[in-house]
Amino acid sequence: MGFLRLIYVILLFFGVKVHSQYETYQWDEDYDQEPNEDYEPEFPFHQNIEYGVPFYQHSIGCASECFCPANFPTSMYCDNRKLKTIPNIPMHIRQLNLQFNEIEAVTIDPFINATQLQEINLSHNKIKSQKIDYGVFAKLPNLLQLHLQHNNLEEFPVPLPGSLERLLLGYNKISTLQTNAMDGLANLTMLDLCYNHLHDSTLKEENLSKMEKLMQLNLCNNRLESMPPGLPPSLMYLSLENNSISSIPDNYFDKLPKLHALRMSHNKLKDIPYGIFNLSNLVELNVGHNKLKKAFYIPRNLEHLYLQDNEIENINVTLICPSIDPLHHHHLTYLRVDQNKLKEPISSFIFFCFPRIHSIYYGEQKSTDGQTIQLKTQVFRRFDDDDDDDDDDGDDEDNTLEGQEQEVAEGHFYPQYYGVQEWQETI
Ligand SMILES: *[C@@H]1O[C@H](CO)[C@@H](O)[C@H](O)[C@H]1NC(C)=O
Ligand SMILES: *[C@@H]1O[C@H](CO)[C@@H](O)[C@H](O)[C@H]1NC(C)=O
Ligand SMILES: *[C@@H]1O[C@H](CO)[C@@H](O)[C@H](O)[C@H]1NC(C)=O
Ligand SMILES: *[C@@H]1O[C@H](CO)[C@@H](O)[C@H](O)[C@H]1NC(C)=O
Ligand SMILES: *[C@@H]1O[C@H](CO)[C@@H](O)[C@H](O)[C@H]1NC(C)=O
Ligand SMILES: *[C@@H]1O[C@H](CO)[C@@H](O)[C@H](O)[C@H]1NC(C)=O
Ligand SMILES: *[C@@H]1O[C@H](CO)[C@@H](O)[C@H](O)[C@H]1NC(C)=O
Repeated sequence: MGFLRLIYVILLFFGVKVHSQYETYQWDEDYDQEPNEDYEPEFPFHQNIEYGVPFYQHSIGCASECFCPANFPTSMYCDNRKLKTIPNIPMHIRQLNLQFNEIEAVTIDPFINATQLQEINLSHNKIKSQKIDYGVFAKLPNLLQLHLQHNNLEEFPVPLPGSLERLLLGYNKISTLQTNAMDGLANLTMLDLCYNHLHDSTLKEENLSKMEKLMQLNLCNNRLESMPPGLPPSLMYLSLENNSISSIPDNYFDKLPKLHALRMSHNKLKDIPYGIFNLSNLVELNVGHNKLKKAFYIPRNLEHLYLQDNEIENINVTLICPSIDPLHHHHLTYLRVDQNKLKEPISSFIFFCFPRIHSIYYGEQKSTDGQTIQLKTQVFRRFDDDDDDDDDDGDDEDNTLEGQEQEVAEGHFYPQYYGVQEWQETI
């Protein structure tokens, strides 16, 4: 059994891999590079190490509390040291690691010479908004990445430098944003504000479309009741899980033509317009754990659709797929419809419409009296023809595997910055 399951996992993984190549490709290109690989150790300082001038190295090269590896001469590691204050940062440092300390304040002094800084990791500290000196980050003209997740921030930090590309503010208590807080952030590609205390009114005054290069916006686990207004047309990944959003305005996505993945599980969506997700670049859509009663038009390029835990009673294939074009067929490969109110499996016509479909997970369904019912077909899974020998494996094996899959999917709905694994995790 264990061995068979392993084969299943491998096949499943392989199948997913094949269908996700495009996604992986794109994301890798934008995000998967380790910044260190880009930064050539080009400082004369490096030579000083080789000539062995220990005093010079010690006094100018590294703060005594920290570690500066010889092979990454522009990085300073001060993480996990119970530090309460930020050490002085030498001029040549580009990457500064201060995560997992007990820092409460970000003062100007240690940063005075640090104009070359490109990356600051201050995650997992105790930083409070009112203890960040005004302008301390804005004075760093080369800053590209700022990690402030897992702190005690109550406000969005302002001002920030226009050079910034990735800003991570998850797991704070941010409930206020100054008007125009985002105005100068024209180079920002990724903004993470998950696990904060944002309300609709927090975003109302903002013009998010000023972030003209923004590709990923994470607003999961906040207190939003409606869709965030005025998003930039560059957006590709939008994460809104676990808010209280109940509707989507009719033409909401017209201004987001590049949207690639939309995550809206654990909201209160009820009636949504039939053609709302007709977006030509949408590949992943998660609207599980909502209150949807009806299915909707499935756009051609969508590959993964999560509809579990809604109130859907039947899925009319003619509605989700009104026409079949043999030359440009739909791309759907994975569909989750468990924990709905389906009384029978979806009509097999679905396989004509979505010829690439690889699995449909029916799981358990809720009946009207609150009981759960099992459809006869728990899981439909299709492998390529040469995998046929796996089909005589029993349903039980399938269910166990799906159970595991489900756990993985439920356990990881925090879309991480480095993206690709996490964004693909629920597949
Ligand atoms: C900044 O550089 C100057 C000149 O090298 C030095 O005297 C000073 O101590 C440095 N300050 C900090 C905070 O590193
Ligand atoms: C920053 O620290 C976090 C831990 O909080 C770690 O996961 C992340 O990889 C670090 N990022 C960088 C760019 O060093
Ligand atoms: C924004 O990015 C562009 C292109 O990489 C760069 O030329 C420009 O200097 C950046 N803006 C700021 C304010 O750093
Ligand atoms: C928001 O910013 C965009 C881009 O800078 C601009 O075109 C638009 O007019 C602004 N909208 C509002 C309501 O200010
Ligand atoms: C959603 O957020 C609430 C707090 O706002 C939290 O209590 C709950 O556990 C979250 N739900 C999930 C599924 O994470
Ligand atoms: C989806 O969009 C295409 C092109 O924008 C349009 O031709 C088609 O009628 C739309 N379909 C639905 C169901 O909205
Ligand atoms: C499915 O929807 C189409 C179009 O609205 C309708 O004509 C058809 O009767 C529906 N089929 C079922 C089984 O409800």
